[in-house]
Amino acid sequence: MSKKTIHPAKTLAGGVSLPGDKSISHRYAMLAGLAEGLTEISNFALAADCHSTLDCMKALGAEVKADKSLVRVTGYGLQGLKSSKRALDAGNSGTTIRLLSGILAGQNFISKIAGDDSLNKRPMKRILTPLREMGAHIEARDENFAPLEIHGAKLHGIHYEMPIASAQVKSAVLLAALFAEGDTSVIEPARTRDHTELALEQFGVPIERRGLTTRIVANGKIKVTGKKIEVPGDLSSAVFFIAAASLFPESTLHIQGVGLNPTRTAILDVFARMGASLQMLSLRSAQGEVIGDIVIKGAELKGGIIERAEIPLVIDELPMLAALGPYTQEGIEIRDAAELRVKESDRIAALAENLRAMGAKVDERPDGLKVQGRSAGKLHGAVIEPRGDHRIAMAFAVAALGAEGPTTIRDAECAAVSYPTFYDDLARVAE
Ligand code: S3P
Repeated sequence: MSKKTIHPAKTLAGGVSLPGDKSISHRYAMLAGLAEGLTEISNFALAADCHSTLDCMKALGAEVKADKSLVRVTGYGLQGLKSSKRALDAGNSGTTIRLLSGILAGQNFISKIAGDDSLNKRPMKRILTPLREMGAHIEARDENFAPLEIHGAKLHGIHYEMPIASAQVKSAVLLAALFAEGDTSVIEPARTRDHTELALEQFGVPIERRGLTTRIVANGKIKVTGKKIEVPGDLSSAVFFIAAASLFPESTLHIQGVGLNPTRTAILDVFARMGASLQMLSLRSAQGEVIGDIVIKGAELKGGIIERAEIPLVIDELPMLAALGPYTQEGIEIRDAAELRVKESDRIAALAENLRAMGAKVDERPDGLKVQGRSAGKLHGAVIEPRGDHRIAMAFAVAALGAEGPTTIRDAECAAVSYPTFYDDLARVAE
């Protein structure tokens, strides 16, 4: 599939259950590789990104068997990793390279890790700084980019005040702390997803959490233990369906088994604030994470401003929100989101370019964009250039459902980075 044509829809109906959460799958795969014994992970993400993590753990000596979404990993304990014969390949995945760097920094061997062209252009200094402070020896191209050469070293704990709100940076430090002497604490400037903290607890690592501070007490007794664990459905993927269903007044869509961790659900608050009709049902807890169903009906969306501390909590959902802008009453404005420029693509530029191609009025800014609402006119079909970015491709596939005439998404298979069956699942519920 090099391109995909999306035809306008009239409504969305039926049910979807989503592949496992990408962020959580990465963490379970890494901790399973560091654990003693067998870990059995059900509903593991189908995302190519998470398979990059599994491949890396395998290359580092963990035994990995994947049968669709059921993954079995046998690890040999915290000191059980071995040097990989070849350079590790993180593919398109920022989470793989950044989190794994924390683990590799504390080994007694040298590792090389890199990714695809897009990943090799993304900033790594944000993890190099705290890891070096812990005693790590890491060489990076131009001091900021992959390939990284990580010379495993004896690490010591640090007290790190993070300059940016990033779950990946926080997680890299917490994972390195497993190998460090002394305590490590990380202080976030604003709350970010806490899947690493929850996963560490589940795998038997005691941590302390107070406000925005997370602390790992390394008393030489840390033991990571394999277990049976289930990954919730990916809320970031659910958001494409929530947005699509909202477009049409007649829609009723039931999304089953979605992860509703409170550090991820700010996007549901944004939708509710804009007037979306959302209901959460059958809430339950699954190994520290919250899972539930979402029922979504069509509704008039007001639009509005997304800014400040809310940004890190909805960072992956901003492409979908921006692409919904032309369907809202007041339009959508995103501020304080310069981070979007260093994601899988420069998402601000990609959004502005493709929204304009569909006829939207967009004001692009260094740290965000303003997309005018319905009064600026209806969108029309266009050719979308996703710049190899899964979330841009999926956001515009949804925007295309409400447009006049067909839309072609170029290089559509890039969606597989997080959601390989996205177009089929969307076609099944769109009428
Ligand atoms: C992620 C954290 C976020 C997010 C990414 C996944 C994670 O990145 O955008 O898709 O799994 O920790 P940052 O930490 O760079 O904000």
